[in-house]
Amino acid sequence: MRKLIVLVLCIWCSLSKAQKFEELAKKPPMGWNSWNKFECKINETIVKEIADALVKTGMKNAGYEYVIVDDCWQIGRDSLGNIIPDPERFPSGIKNLVDYVHSKGLKFGIYSDAGTQTCQGRPGSRGYEFQDARAYAKWGVDLLKYDWCNHGKQNAEASYALMRDAIYKAGRPMVLSICEWGTNKPWEWGASVGHTWRTTEDIINCFDCKNNWGGLGVLQIIDAQVEIGGYSGPGHWNDPDMLEIGNGVLTTSEERLHMSMWAMFSAPLIAGNDIRNMSAKTNEILTNKEVLAIDQDSLGISATRWMKYADLEIWFKPLSDNNFAFCLINRSNQPIVINQDLKATIKNYKVDGSYKVRDVWKRQNIGTTTDNIKGTIAAHDVLMLKLTKK
Ligand code: GLA
Repeated sequence: MRKLIVLVLCIWCSLSKAQKFEELAKKPPMGWNSWNKFECKINETIVKEIADALVKTGMKNAGYEYVIVDDCWQIGRDSLGNIIPDPERFPSGIKNLVDYVHSKGLKFGIYSDAGTQTCQGRPGSRGYEFQDARAYAKWGVDLLKYDWCNHGKQNAEASYALMRDAIYKAGRPMVLSICEWGTNKPWEWGASVGHTWRTTEDIINCFDCKNNWGGLGVLQIIDAQVEIGGYSGPGHWNDPDMLEIGNGVLTTSEERLHMSMWAMFSAPLIAGNDIRNMSAKTNEILTNKEVLAIDQDSLGISATRWMKYADLEIWFKPLSDNNFAFCLINRSNQPIVINQDLKATIKNYKVDGSYKVRDVWKRQNIGTTTDNIKGTIAAHDVLMLKLTKK
């Protein structure tokens, strides 16, 4: 009899064990999100056109797969508590939109909030976690971005774990993208709860600035990653927020630097621009295969800042096959002359002999680690290198 009770308890324990869908996001998710460009001015026509554009522009081929509708798609709840999409902006309903996105070979992401209301005052999922997760599953949603506005005194880890459990119970694998802005150090608990976690407040569309509610420019977000790279890895990624590439403020150099560093962090790459009419330059920056391969490298090791010398920083990232990626970034408004011995940086790794050095933006081999790397990095620009065993 005792054995039977233990057996029943064990089965119950293993069935009720809290878990996330482990097999998802083994590489950093890539896709597009409506917020940076459209904020609340989003509707189903734009989302469909974006899905078409992802295919037409080659973004899908390059690996961008999630089409994520951010805040403002939801308007209220019916008498049974079911979430209601805004009928003016999404007249065909979310399920139809998901089907459309799926028909393009893409995946669909949706947005909600762990508190009572979203950041734009729409209904949050607090108290409706299981019901909302069931609705998303029924619609065929593949990813949930889960925000942290209006949370009162809620415990962050418990709130996100509750949604993890709700998604698991709903039975459809969905990436859980924790958007808690780094307030409660999600890197310390996020790996067992979700697949990605925001590390900071929102990115703002500038290179070097902060605003009064905590929004951060590209450099400020990079600085916030220095201590936490070690928490990121396959299935559980630091998320330094969505890309501002193609949104008309950053210069080409700054956009390249932004893209390079997100790839160095193995960050989720979520485009935030209007890709229906982006320039060839923007497309080129977002889809450079060699840069994307560094982001998507199977080891998923986030870069380490090896050196900071005034406005020059050198970051490096071990890659699979004993290769390495390097970024030399120039934070200043002046060009910086470099003469760098890269061997010294990686001497603690099992490095024997010399490596080929390739400039991944110029797509040119520029020498070997036998010699110092020499040159000039323009203001706010980056030299991104891949070192490959000869
Ligand atoms: C928060 C998030 C943003 C975006 C907005 C939407 O600020 O951090 O990424 O989702 O809410 O209201």
